[in-house]
Amino acid sequence: MLTVLFVVMVNMATFASSSVGVNWGTMATHLLPAQNVVDMLKENGFDKVKLFDADESILEALSGTDIEVMIAVPNYMLEEMSLDAAAAASWVDANVTAYAYSGGVNIRYVAVGNEPFLKTYNGTYLHHTLPALKNIQEALNHAGLGSKIKATVPFNADVYNSPESNQVPSAGDFRPEIRDLTIQIVQYLYSNDAPFVVNIYPFLSLYGNVYFPLDYAFFDGSSKPIKDGDYLYTNVFDANFDTLVWSLTKAGFPDMKIIVGEVGWPTDGDKNANIQNAKRFNQGLVHHVLSGEGTPFRKGKLEVYLFSLIDENTKSIDPGSFERHWGIFEFDGKPKYELDLLGSQQNKGLVAVQGVRYMIRRWCVLKPHVKDLDQDLPGNIDYACSLSDCTALGYGSSCNHLTMQGNASYAFNMYYQFKNQNEWDCDFSGLAMITDEDPSDDKCHFPVLIAYGSSLLLLHKKLVNILLAFLEGCIVVLLLVS
Ligand SMILES: *[C@@H]1O[C@H](CO)[C@@H](O)[C@H](O)[C@H]1NC(C)=O
Ligand SMILES: *[C@@H]1O[C@H](CO)[C@@H](O)[C@H](O)[C@H]1NC(C)=O
Ligand SMILES: *[C@@H]1O[C@H](CO)[C@@H](O)[C@H](O)[C@H]1NC(C)=O
Repeated sequence: MLTVLFVVMVNMATFASSSVGVNWGTMATHLLPAQNVVDMLKENGFDKVKLFDADESILEALSGTDIEVMIAVPNYMLEEMSLDAAAAASWVDANVTAYAYSGGVNIRYVAVGNEPFLKTYNGTYLHHTLPALKNIQEALNHAGLGSKIKATVPFNADVYNSPESNQVPSAGDFRPEIRDLTIQIVQYLYSNDAPFVVNIYPFLSLYGNVYFPLDYAFFDGSSKPIKDGDYLYTNVFDANFDTLVWSLTKAGFPDMKIIVGEVGWPTDGDKNANIQNAKRFNQGLVHHVLSGEGTPFRKGKLEVYLFSLIDENTKSIDPGSFERHWGIFEFDGKPKYELDLLGSQQNKGLVAVQGVRYMIRRWCVLKPHVKDLDQDLPGNIDYACSLSDCTALGYGSSCNHLTMQGNASYAFNMYYQFKNQNEWDCDFSGLAMITDEDPSDDKCHFPVLIAYGSSLLLLHKKLVNILLAFLEGCIVVLLLVS
C-alpha cells in the first residue's frame, strides 16, 4: 500500500509544468469520467484549468493535484449573488471552502459570471456583475481565503473596441456605454490584487470579416503588419491584447494584471475551422506564451487558458456551427492533432484520455435504395438534427461533401448515438436500419459515442477509496498483532 502511494506521489512531481491553462467545459451529452480527464491533464503537463461552474465530480477528481483551478459562478446566478450576500456566502461555503483545505483542490480564482457584458446579452447582467463580484470576494475574505483566492470577471474582448485588421491598439478604450461600469470593476479588482480576465478570439475576427488578412490571425508573421507608433503588430492576438492594455492605461491602471481566459481555434463547422488552422494557431500561441516575451506594449509573461479541452456537442450554435468543435481533444479524449505544450524539442504529442469505454460499434443509417425524392426524408433529417448534432454537415465542414443519402445517414446516426443506441431510435418512418459497417470516409467521421456519464465512475472511485481505506486498516491491525 505504501509503495503504491509513493509511486503515485513521485509521478505527480515529475511532470514538468507548462504555463498554459485550459478551459474544461461540460456541455455535452456523453461526458468522460472526470478522474480519467484529470489523469490526462497531468500526463500532458497542463497545470491550470478553468471551469464554467463548480461541478462536484470534477472538483473531487482535482483533489490532491497541484493543478491551479478557476471555478465559476454561472451568469444565471449573478442576480441572486448580487442581491443576497448570504447566498454568495453559502455558494463559497459549498463550492470553495469545502475543497480549499490543504491536499484538496488548488482553487486560485472564482470567475463571477462569464462574459456578462457581451453585446448580445443586451445589458441583462450589467447591474448585477459588480455587486455579485463584491459579495463573492467578501465571502472569500470572511472564509479566510481572500489572500489566496481571487474573485474576478471573465470579459469578452468586446468590452473594448477590439481591433479589426486596420485599427491601432493605442486607439483602444472601453465601449462608451459600459466604460464607467467596467472601470469601477477594474478598480475593485485592482484594489484586491485580482486580475482582469479577457477572452480573445482571432478566429472570430476572421469569421466575421471576409477582408481580414488570414496570416494576421496566426503567429508566423504577416505580409501586412500594423504599425502603431514604435510598435509593430504581426498578429491580431497581440494587437487585441494591447488594445486592452491601452484601455486600462487610459483608465489609470497601466500595470493591471491580465489573464487571457479563453483563446483557441475550432476544427470544424466553418471553412477556416479545420485541424491545420487549429494546430497552426494553438502551437503558435503556445510558443508565444512559452517565449516569455509578451506583446509589443506589455513585455513579460503571458498567462492564457486555451479554449478548449474537449468538444462539447450541446453548446449553443447561435454564434456558428464551429461552437461544438473548439476541443484540442475529441469527445472521447483523443487528441485531434499534435501540440507541444512544454516547448520541448522532442514533441512527443499529446496523451489521450486512457480507459475510455465506447458503446457497441454500430450505426444507424438510411436503408439502401431510398431515393432522395422520398417525401418523408427531409422532415426526418430535420428532426434528427434538431435533437442531436449535425454541425459537421454544413458549408465548409468535414461532412459537407456527403450526398443527400449520406446526410440522412449522418443525421440518423447522430440521433441514434445521442439516444444511447436504443433500437427504437433507429426507425425514422421505416427509412433507417442498424448496421455494424462503419459508414465513415476519410474526411467525415460517423461517431460511436462513449458509454458513460461521469456519475458512474465517481461512485466507482468512492468504492475503491473505501476499499483502500479498509485494506489499510487491515494492514495496520496485522502489524499491531504481529
Ligand atoms: C455550488 O455551485 C453550483 C454551480 O455553480 C451551484 O449549482 C450550487 O448551487 C452551488 N452551491 C451553493 C450552496 O450555492
Ligand atoms: C437581445 O436583443 C435582440 C434584439 O432585440 C433579441 O433578438 C435577443 O433575443 C436579445 N437577447 C437577449 C439575451 O435578451
Ligand atoms: C447536406 O446537408 C447540409 C446541411 O444541411 C447541406 O448544406 C447540404 O447541401 C446537404 N447536401 C445535400 C446533397 O443535400
